[in-house]
Amino acid sequence: MPPRKIIIDTDPGQDDAVAILLALSSPEDMDVLGITAVAGNVPLELTQKNARIVCELAGKTDVPVFAGCDRPMGRQLVTAEHVHGKTGLDGPSLPDPTMPLQDQHAVDFIIETLHREDAGTVTLCVLGPLTNIATAFEKAPEVIERVQQIVLMGGAYFEVGNITPTAEFNIYVDPEAAEITFKSGVDIVVMPLDVTHKALVTQPRNDAFRDLGTPSGIAVAQMTDFFERFDKEKYGSNGAPLHDPCVTAYLIAPELFSGRHINVEIETQSDLTRGMTVADWWGVTDRPANATFIGDLDADGFFALLVERIGRL
Ligand code: RIB
Ligand code: CA
Repeated sequence: MPPRKIIIDTDPGQDDAVAILLALSSPEDMDVLGITAVAGNVPLELTQKNARIVCELAGKTDVPVFAGCDRPMGRQLVTAEHVHGKTGLDGPSLPDPTMPLQDQHAVDFIIETLHREDAGTVTLCVLGPLTNIATAFEKAPEVIERVQQIVLMGGAYFEVGNITPTAEFNIYVDPEAAEITFKSGVDIVVMPLDVTHKALVTQPRNDAFRDLGTPSGIAVAQMTDFFERFDKEKYGSNGAPLHDPCVTAYLIAPELFSGRHINVEIETQSDLTRGMTVADWWGVTDRPANATFIGDLDADGFFALLVERIGRL
């Protein structure tokens, strides 16, 4: 099977960084056509810089990085420095990037790529707010049917919210973009907090990254050491939840994950429940299924894959 052609849309973010490292270490599974940065965990000028820092850490400076939207489609930007630190990549001390940022806007890169590549052959791996994706769909609706699949980290049902009592951060930041995406008709796979909160970097798993002894392995251990504070304090978790790597791991080993094809709608009207993913997990409505909502994973298999692949860099 040839590697899948993907665009990674991201707001690095330590967990985004691990997801990107997993993709860049797996050329037999993924051909990364480009990385598009979006405002989210930290402002755009940092997410586009962090994306390039991660590419250089992986030694993959040939991957083009683009800057996209610097704010949500119709709201003020909400960021998450309280989770990811001021730089968005707190933990390791990594050098500023020397590889260039592409001049083209990320949204135009997404549109151009979907026009150029054969229809149905490009997968969008979305690790942050859906602003770039929805903006591309609004600007060039003809590209929607050319998307092979969207695999995204976002939302929650049984786990409810991490930024408000009802909403997960990526969806909360830009609920309008999420609504456009979930109503687009594209084949969507969702990695909600329901599954990502089961992907915890326990101390033995953190040690396994550090014991790689490579710059990437040590950096991942330092990132997750930093990144775990928020979840440990809030949930009493036994380590950092590796949200975004669930997206790229799914493209390598989908058998590690399980879920249901259900209807998922996005709350955009209520201030109280803005950004909630109303997931009809129990099939109590007649709303048509529009997403595969993942609820569980083989965590040991997931981390074994991560250590093996990141150990290649
Ligand atoms: O809620 C977790 C998500 O929000 C992850 O993608 C994390 O990187 C932040 O973007
Ligand atoms: Ca992210």
